[in-house]
Amino acid sequence: MWGMKIALGSDHAGFRLKEHIRDHVESSSHTCKDFGVFSEASADYPDIAAFVTAAVQSGEYDCGILICGTGIGMSIAANKNTGIRAALCGQGYSAKCAREHNDANILAMGSRVIGPGLALEILDLFLSTPFAGGRHENWLHKIQELEAGNARTRPSQD
Ligand code: RB5
Repeated sequence: MWGMKIALGSDHAGFRLKEHIRDHVESSSHTCKDFGVFSEASADYPDIAAFVTAAVQSGEYDCGILICGTGIGMSIAANKNTGIRAALCGQGYSAKCAREHNDANILAMGSRVIGPGLALEILDLFLSTPFAGGRHENWLHKIQELEAGNARTRPSQD
């Protein structure tokens, strides 16, 4: 996809990789807004996840990128927000499937887990892969039902 608006954020552990990613995005057809952090001083990753997810929820941004040490905290925090489908990816196949199958709107990565070259490879796949739709639509609808508190919580034979 071309010309996407991306919301970007990290905690202190992800700061350097975020800077690297921002440079990469700025040299592409996409644009990004950096929601911080702006130094390696200790920061609370749920705060940054809240900024980036709100930006995506508002519709002003097409997708978000969140980076912390492992990517785990950011993905957990991001997925607490309605309509957010954050995917923690450590290799390209997951990034491709996160878009194709899950229509993920946030990419989470761990700066202590992957190097900068792999991070850009994952990012480029995430940004260039469209949602496949079809049978995946029904499963996304069921996730919406979970969010709304409408999901069946026991197997039907109970
Ligand atoms: C910070 O030390 C680290 O806990 C954080 O970046 C992240 O990995 C949490 O999930």
